[in-house]
Amino acid sequence: MQAAEIRQSFLDFFQGKGHLVMPSASLIPAGDPTLLLTSAGMVQFKPYFTGEMEPPSRRLTSVQKCFRATDIDEVGDTSHNTFFEMLGNFSIGDYFKEDAIAWAWEYITEHLKLAPERLWATVFLDDDDAHDLWVRTGVPAERIRRFGEADNWWGPAGNEGPCGPCSEVHYDFGGKCRQGKPESECGPNCECGRFLELWNLVFMQFYQDPQGTRTPLPAPNIDTGMGLERAARILQGVDSAYETDLFRPIVARVEELAGVTYGTDPEKDTAIRVVAEHARSAAFLIADGVVPGNEGRGYVLRRVIRRAIFYAMQLGRRQKASAWESTSGEWTVWMPEAVQIRMVPVISVVVDLMSLVYPELKERGPFIERVVSTEEEAFLRTLKEGDAVLRQVINIKQGVHNFREDSQNPRIFLDNLGPLIPKVQQDVLQPLLGIKTQAKLRNKDILTLTGSELFLLYGTYGFPLELAKEAARWYGEQWGIGPFTIDEDGFYAEVEKDKERSRSATVKFGGDADLQRRYEPFGQTAFLGYETTTAPSEIVGLLVDGAPVDSAAKGQQIEIILRETPFYAEAGGQVGDAGELEGSGGLIQVEDTQSPVTGLTVHRGRVTRGTVATGETVVATVDRERRQDAARNHTATHLLHAALRQVLGTHVRQAGSLVAPDRLRFDFTHVSPLTAEELRSVERLVNAKVRENVAVHKRETTFRQATADGALAFFGDKYGDQVRVVEVANGEVFSLEVCGGTHVDATGDVGYIHVVGESSIGAGMRRIEALSGRAAESLAREQSGLLERVAQRLETSPKDLESRVTTLTQEVARLRRAAVAGERETSRKEAQELLGRVQELDGLKVVVQRAKVSSAEALRETGDWLRDKLDSGVVVLGAVVNDRPTLIAMVTADLVVRGLHAGNIVKEAAQAMGGGGGGRPEMAQAGGRRPEALDDALRTAVQVIRSQASAS
Ligand code: SER
Repeated sequence: MQAAEIRQSFLDFFQGKGHLVMPSASLIPAGDPTLLLTSAGMVQFKPYFTGEMEPPSRRLTSVQKCFRATDIDEVGDTSHNTFFEMLGNFSIGDYFKEDAIAWAWEYITEHLKLAPERLWATVFLDDDDAHDLWVRTGVPAERIRRFGEADNWWGPAGNEGPCGPCSEVHYDFGGKCRQGKPESECGPNCECGRFLELWNLVFMQFYQDPQGTRTPLPAPNIDTGMGLERAARILQGVDSAYETDLFRPIVARVEELAGVTYGTDPEKDTAIRVVAEHARSAAFLIADGVVPGNEGRGYVLRRVIRRAIFYAMQLGRRQKASAWESTSGEWTVWMPEAVQIRMVPVISVVVDLMSLVYPELKERGPFIERVVSTEEEAFLRTLKEGDAVLRQVINIKQGVHNFREDSQNPRIFLDNLGPLIPKVQQDVLQPLLGIKTQAKLRNKDILTLTGSELFLLYGTYGFPLELAKEAARWYGEQWGIGPFTIDEDGFYAEVEKDKERSRSATVKFGGDADLQRRYEPFGQTAFLGYETTTAPSEIVGLLVDGAPVDSAAKGQQIEIILRETPFYAEAGGQVGDAGELEGSGGLIQVEDTQSPVTGLTVHRGRVTRGTVATGETVVATVDRERRQDAARNHTATHLLHAALRQVLGTHVRQAGSLVAPDRLRFDFTHVSPLTAEELRSVERLVNAKVRENVAVHKRETTFRQATADGALAFFGDKYGDQVRVVEVANGEVFSLEVCGGTHVDATGDVGYIHVVGESSIGAGMRRIEALSGRAAESLAREQSGLLERVAQRLETSPKDLESRVTTLTQEVARLRRAAVAGERETSRKEAQELLGRVQELDGLKVVVQRAKVSSAEALRETGDWLRDKLDSGVVVLGAVVNDRPTLIAMVTADLVVRGLHAGNIVKEAAQAMGGGGGGRPEMAQAGGRRPEALDDALRTAVQVIRSQASAS
């Protein structure tokens, strides 16, 4: 059975049992901020199990795309995958164990047609019900095993969620235990590989909270999951998923690129599996909107791409690296040539192979390929250098190790080492050489990459720790050194030391704990700013330099905490409000508003009149114009986000933003620069929406409901249970985002949106900068004013400015050509004249003169010309160029042989004019600081030539 048939027969079977077929959800669990990536079929149904939302049917079935980041390091063996497809059936408080078990059996034996005697079951310790149900279904008691929580308890996925005991079906490939255990000890979950877990039936009965406490769910549920790759492997009678039709074409492409055959060399096989698996998983992640980054999902993606690139590099080495070669008694490190196998051709097979089932791959195909190749370009530069360093380090250590094994002094080997990268020489070899006696070289130091070596790789070459670990293991095995370990603690100690070194002296606040301690006593601040910009309130806290005070007087810089406030504290990219707090005895100008701990608003500013004290009532008034400017930019940001998705595609996601009163910045995922046409379309679209004057609605809802409605959420933000959504819609929704910022009431308030820049901010990320409202108006005014002024200066009108500038540039180019020609002519005349002033100096032909030229270049040209005319001689010319004295010296080759040296002539001569310089024996140049001393310098040059000539 091919994979496509398995998927279809599974869905058909459960549809026949009254299940509703649900599409796969995205790998980004949009409704669940607690989970990094969708790791099981049940993830999208969590709210149904908990009773938070009504399911469309009590019986559901799906084939779900899954990603398990915890398995990245294992990929390369024959059984682990990061990305896989999970076939599942789900009961939301409907049927329970009895049907789940009976149907699983029916499907496996009658539809997949697996032999019943190959099937085993496992149940949770005391789950007699499940045990008896399996027996009733036809599994003999001796093929049912009981296991504890480690094996037969499932969930929750993420920090919290539904979970319960489970029961699994395992497939027996037959034969004896492959680790030689007695028959009674081998069975499901034996690590020997004879058994394979095929299907997991979870009896979802509990909700586990983040503290680990379990409470019963509203009703018992069923959640089952069967790995498609595993089913295919069993049904197609092959040894691993890589030989099934799900992977064969991908593996074939890797084989073709590397010129190797899968199954002929165990090391190459590992590398082929890594490249194939990661190409597949990266393609799916990117198709769902993940781009490489340094944290969260972005980092998961970056890791799989980088790991694939590293293994692709290993595949590209035509021969195995044997480490040492001796020619004429010299030891050298021998590195075979490598071809880098690129990811894109592998990715394109994945796209072709899988897009029938997952059309998003085809839709986003070009985007996926560009993201991968951009990341690849960047990482390969790092990888090549880092890898060379790493190999040298391991080579050195291997050599030392081998010599010790043979009881020879490793210094013999170390002293004869070939050319090394200077950093390796200094940071790795020197310390080893510094260890005086052989006895002191401990095995631990030899077969370990030390913290400082790892930090060298990481800090200087950007070589990530996981990869260094992996590479060390790989090279250790490949070169027969055995377990080559890394000192991870030592690495982190180095990282800490480095942080300490670079920690700036002007840290505003201490760590989180300090902030908590400082602001905790003040509790929470209620926010009134969505409804009003002015309100009376009470001062509940004043701080000066971080310490609480009872009152503050005119001139003091303070932090003020109010019981409630209309001031918006910086969040979600929008800057904090400014304004005034006025009390009966004093006035505070608020310059900025921040929220250093969740829920608390801190106003920062200065007392500008009288005094203020805690307990006093103040009238808090936000600078309305500034706030309104920020609101305009915030709404403009949402409009841009929506427009970018319309114009470029839905892979566009917000990656960060800045919403200030005077400008906005929006960062988003997209690989290539926007074309002028794309940028114009975006601008046209947002301004059309502004002119439509569409209402901007704000409402409160749950995060889950918001994402279920299709609201975009910025995954960099943390959301509580209740969130605010901002919607731009008149009948049709144009933009819908989870957002706590302040916005205008209708898009017309934004006025006009003007994009001022678009640029790259890293692989797969772009940035748009724009202005709206008043700032856009000022810009327009400024620019048309500028045009007017420039036109006036050029005595034309703005309309004719362009042709006027063209004429002028042509004119300038013509004049410049004429000037250059003129200058050449003058220099030539000048040179002619200087040639007439050749002196004889101790038998040498010498020209030491001031030249009337206006550039260093002309000075050099004149010198060249003179030297060529002289055949044999010395030329020293001086000129004042741009108010600075300049000297050049030239010596013909025959005199260089005699010991004359242009570099030394100008060096000494330049000292006379307060400068320095030097150069080669044939030609040298120098500058100075005192133009009036140029003649002195030339006189000195004559003396130097004399003494050089007499010494020769
Ligand atoms: N959630 C369970 C698993 O992932 C069954 O679907 O194994």
